[in-house]
Amino acid sequence: EDLTSLTHLHEPAVVYCLQKHYERNSIYTYTGKILIALNPFQMLYNVYGEDVMKDYWQDDNTKTLDLERRPPPHVYAIAQDAYRSLLHEGNNQSILVSGESGSGKTVTTKYIMGYLANQSQRNTSNNDNHNKKEEGIESQILQSNPILESFGNARTIRNDNSSRFGKFMELLFSPGTGQLISASIETYLLEKVRLISQAPGERNYHIFYELLAGLSQQERKELLIENFVPDDFRMTGCSGTFDRRDGVDDNETFHDLRTAFLSVGFSESQQKDLFAVACALLHTSNITFKTASGEGSELIQSQSLVAALDLLGVSQEALNDSLCLCAIQARGEVFHKNLSVIQAGKALEALIKATYGALFTHIVRTINNSIAAELEATSPHARNLPRIGVLDIFGFESFDVNSYEQLCINYCNEALQQQFNKFVFKLEQHEYEQEGIDWSFIEFPDNQDILDLIENKREGILSILDEKCRLASCTDTTFCRAIYEKCKKHPRFSATQSQIANFEFSIEHYAGTVTYDSANFLEKNKDELPKETTELLASSSVRFLAYLGETLNEEDEPTSASAKAFADRDGTSDTNNRKRNNSSILRTTVGSQFSRQLRELRDRIDSTSPHYVRCLKPNDDLVPNQFEAHVIAEQLRCAGVLEAIRVSRVGFPHRYYHEQFIIRYGILLTKKTMRKRRGKDFCSSTCVVSLGMQTGHRKVFLRTTVFDALELLRNKKLGLSAIIIQKNVRRFVAQLQYDVCLMAAIRIQRFLRQINAYRQARIIKECAAAIRIQCVWRRFFAETELMASRLIAHFCQAYWRGIVARKLYAIMAMENQAKVVQRYWRGYRVKLVYLRVLKSIVSIQCCWRCKVARTVFKGLRREARSIGAIAAERDRFKKESLRLRKEVE
Ligand SMILES: Nc1ncnc2c1ncn2[C@@H]1O[C@H](COP(=O)(O)OP(=O)(O)OP(=O)(O)O)[C@@H](O)[C@H]1O
Ligand SMILES: [Mg+2]
Repeated sequence: EDLTSLTHLHEPAVVYCLQKHYERNSIYTYTGKILIALNPFQMLYNVYGEDVMKDYWQDDNTKTLDLERRPPPHVYAIAQDAYRSLLHEGNNQSILVSGESGSGKTVTTKYIMGYLANQSQRNTSNNDNHNKKEEGIESQILQSNPILESFGNARTIRNDNSSRFGKFMELLFSPGTGQLISASIETYLLEKVRLISQAPGERNYHIFYELLAGLSQQERKELLIENFVPDDFRMTGCSGTFDRRDGVDDNETFHDLRTAFLSVGFSESQQKDLFAVACALLHTSNITFKTASGEGSELIQSQSLVAALDLLGVSQEALNDSLCLCAIQARGEVFHKNLSVIQAGKALEALIKATYGALFTHIVRTINNSIAAELEATSPHARNLPRIGVLDIFGFESFDVNSYEQLCINYCNEALQQQFNKFVFKLEQHEYEQEGIDWSFIEFPDNQDILDLIENKREGILSILDEKCRLASCTDTTFCRAIYEKCKKHPRFSATQSQIANFEFSIEHYAGTVTYDSANFLEKNKDELPKETTELLASSSVRFLAYLGETLNEEDEPTSASAKAFADRDGTSDTNNRKRNNSSILRTTVGSQFSRQLRELRDRIDSTSPHYVRCLKPNDDLVPNQFEAHVIAEQLRCAGVLEAIRVSRVGFPHRYYHEQFIIRYGILLTKKTMRKRRGKDFCSSTCVVSLGMQTGHRKVFLRTTVFDALELLRNKKLGLSAIIIQKNVRRFVAQLQYDVCLMAAIRIQRFLRQINAYRQARIIKECAAAIRIQCVWRRFFAETELMASRLIAHFCQAYWRGIVARKLYAIMAMENQAKVVQRYWRGYRVKLVYLRVLKSIVSIQCCWRCKVARTVFKGLRREARSIGAIAAERDRFKKESLRLRKEVE
């Protein structure tokens, strides 16, 4: 939770630690008393809100709680610390929030103000004596944010809601009760060049887009922007960017703006005046010029010109004269010089910038009048009220091309860094005293030389610039030559040959060397506003514009009553000196104004106990969960955190609690001595108390030389121990390797033998198999031979037996044939005898049968002759047939 507790406090260690925190969504970390806030680029749940606030004010009430149970680092803790110190110690407090664009300064400031307002409300509700006016002041203060954001914030490449001005808000509390009773806002360096042009991907101030998106039809008609869109105006359309990447809707923010206006006390007609000026500027930006028939230039007629004239409340002639003519005073006479188209364009730009600047200042003043009502009422007693200042200001800037704005911003950061260094030094001093060590010999670095280089009354860059601005014939080139001449010997100033050729110069700032391009330095420093323009505005028929025109005639005074009071107290304010010179070109430069503002700011911070919040942006893509180490390292450098660490470590950069010291360097003693000596006794006895090392009540402080010497001894000891450990480890490893090799050799041998045995067994098997095959083959061969010879023998035998058999058969066949012949012959002879006998028998039988037949015939014939015999016969036949039929059935 605290980076200073890291043993090695250097850039990589700090970045690594922050990265680990960020990965756990823990965006807050302490570096001593400085709070580092990482921008999560997403809404974190359970990190803000009243429940979380409770942890911090409760923690403050129960300070005795053990450290383990203390709430984690938080911006509320810083706010609580300031609030507690304010009430209990009676010191004015300031909380300085810085960081690069998009790092979350404004959001952090809002959380701080929210916390303080909440604390005030808590105390108000506890207090019966509060009045109605005080009840609303917290919300009025919080509601000033949407107003300032609409008029002072714009979308840039690095932030969709980038504050284009610095802001110091002072909250005044009642001494006894801690109630918020008043507040004031001071603003710094509003970026006016944005009104004229914006880089691609950037927008003009939010208010213009919000008006075009959020006004009702009736209001649009009245303000002459009916049917107009941002693309129709040069002011809002030149970059081609109209929306916001963060998804915020202009219509909704306009609605919030109106609510905020009402809450802060801007009446409907006052709001309308502000909107009318903004719309007038929109139309004015569209005005163009042409070369006049004689010489010089004149306005070109257009719809926007008509609308602009109407809204500005001036005649075309007056506008034409103020933009296209320039009054020159010579020998008591006033001449009018015609301006070219380009010069007239520049005058128009100056009019827009000055009007918007005056509008912004008016808004801040009105807010101040509203939220500082109590202060006015109780003044001069109000000056002594306890207060907490919250500063939301641009961080150190270093781009590829750095101009006048970067010089002012970096000058401001140098001034704040000096205070920061002093603060860190004080903390160090406090720690040394607490620990009871001698620190008188320690010197701390100071960046006063850089501040001298920039702000020195005669030789400083801003003074030289102011001096050159006063000379009519001077240009950026002559200014650049003058600073080469006067500053070349300054150790923080440099300009190489190529830089001189390009009219550039470098300054070695605490956060790194920055090269500035001197182009337009004079113009930007003068921010000149022709007298004709202020007169034009002052002559406007629109009362509000006339009022703005008059305010332009006054030199910028602090916008808040408390700032004015502070300046008056020191006698730094001289209202008479602040009246603008009555010449065409106004004399007070941006640089000197800013220097004065910065001086006052520093004085105000000096009179308080500061608390620092450094906001860091984890990536340039503005996306959640993306931590780029180099981006953070660069910002840590620019935010002066590393420098602060360095400063804090200038005296005794290395410090350990006694226990840590023993753990770290105890190895330098023998075991016996170690056993004997403990704690502080050990710490003081181990080392000689000299300038290089001191033992405090809780910590041991080491200078780099002693730390290095101890580290060397420790490293040697560690080196020796490492050699012994290496030796033993090597032996152990060698032994292990030997055993492994042995086991491996045995295994290999066993394996080879096994293979050999397998091989021999195979040969034996193969031999046996061959013999067997031979044997089988031979038997087969012998059997085949035998079979063949047997077959041949059988065949021969069969053949011979066939021959013999056929011969026998032939003999037998011949014998059989002879027998057949014999049989047939014998048969033939017997047959002949038989046939003769048979013939004789048949003849005898015939004779006999004839004789029998004739006898029968003679009997039958005799029977036939009798009828009775026939009938009887018939009946007998009938009976016989019936019997037969029955038998058949
Ligand atoms: N604590 C936070 N939680 C969630 N989002 C945050 C937080 N802080 C910053 N952001 C996001 O980062 C954006 C930029 O923050 P912010 O406008 O405060 O930056 P800044 O440092 O004021 O930049 P600039 O210098 O350009 O004004 C915010 O619009 C918001 O979306
Ligand atoms: Mg901001």
